[in-house]
Amino acid sequence: MRMQAAILFEPGKPRPYAASTPLVVEEVELEGPGPGEVLIEIAAAGLCHSDLSAIEGLRPRPLPVVIGHEGAGIVRECGEGVTDLKPDDHVVTVFVSSCGVCRQCVRGRPNICPSGFAARSAGTLISGARRIRRLNGESVNHGSGLSLFAQYAVVARRSMVRIDRSIPLDDAAIFGCAVMTGAGAVLNTAGMRAGDTIAVVGLGGVGMNALFAAVAGGAERIIAVDTSAEKLGLARQWGATDTFLATEPDCAGQIRAATEGGVDTVIETAGNIRAMELAYAITARGGSVVSAGLPATGANFSYMHAGLVSDEKSILGSYMGSCVPERDIPRFLGLYRRGALPVGRLKSGTLPLEEINAGFDRLAEGSVLRQVLRPNG
Ligand SMILES: NC(=O)c1ccc[n+]([C@@H]2O[C@H](COP(=O)([O-])OP(=O)(O)OC[C@H]3O[C@@H](n4cnc5c(N)ncnc54)[C@H](O)[C@@H]3O)[C@@H](O)[C@H]2O)c1
Ligand SMILES: [Zn+2]
Ligand SMILES: [Zn+2]
Repeated sequence: MRMQAAILFEPGKPRPYAASTPLVVEEVELEGPGPGEVLIEIAAAGLCHSDLSAIEGLRPRPLPVVIGHEGAGIVRECGEGVTDLKPDDHVVTVFVSSCGVCRQCVRGRPNICPSGFAARSAGTLISGARRIRRLNGESVNHGSGLSLFAQYAVVARRSMVRIDRSIPLDDAAIFGCAVMTGAGAVLNTAGMRAGDTIAVVGLGGVGMNALFAAVAGGAERIIAVDTSAEKLGLARQWGATDTFLATEPDCAGQIRAATEGGVDTVIETAGNIRAMELAYAITARGGSVVSAGLPATGANFSYMHAGLVSDEKSILGSYMGSCVPERDIPRFLGLYRRGALPVGRLKSGTLPLEEINAGFDRLAEGSVLRQVLRPNG
């Protein structure tokens, strides 16, 4: 079938993107679903900072590629062997494909399935196929096994979770990345318990979901940190007990003084090394820093090793919030239904495919939380 897709040909173009157009919207051919695959109509796709990093060229991938890894859609056609979904079902997409049978998958860690990572690096679906072609016949790579900045997508069955039709698809889309990553970092990776003190460094779409999860999980004290005073204001309204501007000289010293030596659990959701240094510096003796931010490929974080040992600090990575999507998307949607994960507050407007470059300008400026693309209007 023919559809419109936004293709990334050349990362690293200058801003404003509205003028340099790193994402080019063009008509492409989408093959039907192969065995174990499903054709979905994309109802909504969120603009995440990881997409921006791909546009900036900070995290290289095979080109040309259709990126977009946070979304919700409607099943239109099921490939051979897909018997547990049917046309018109609503789904949230999952940005790590997984095989379901390897050591990581069977021990409940499909978010780090090696086959999923191999497919992502190769720019294919987990089956090894590429389903998108330009009209000149050139094959186009898949981003995260999804490619959601398009009107339709063919994705593996395991790259989606069915959801109740009553959930607005704009909100549902945000569960595909920002909610799993932010809430999962707090409730899965960090294993926060009621009464804990927690800090969140970086209050974008991902960090605000970490904040919501900390409130929902009964944190006693929630310290919110960002370079933007405006985001600190929102964090205070949404349940942060203390806020600190990361640009203040000795921000780390101020936080340590306010917390009698540091915070037990620090969640880093900013995605740069300065933020990670701050997160590590405000982690208390015996505490952990959970990093979900993704800086440029090759960027290194260093720390004084003897201090890590004598302070018994832990540094944990958190990919897709350590989620098992089939378990956690319904669980987080349950919190959403009770008003405890109010993702609708994060929505900074909707946009058509044609305005996608301008949307990434706004994300790069830091003036928005989650913008939602509606590729089918
Ligand atoms: N681990 C994962 O699975 C995963 C999934 C999605 C996104 N990410 C990454 O998470 C990060 C956040 O994504 P997002 O979409 O929320 O981005 P965003 O741009 O919406 O938010 C980032 C926030 O960090 C703040 N910030 C920047 N530098 C800071 C500093 N030095 N100190 C404190 N705050 C600072 C910004 O002001 C902004 O509010 C990105 O690096 C993204 O690539 C990781
Ligand atoms: Zn993302
Ligand atoms: Zn696997």
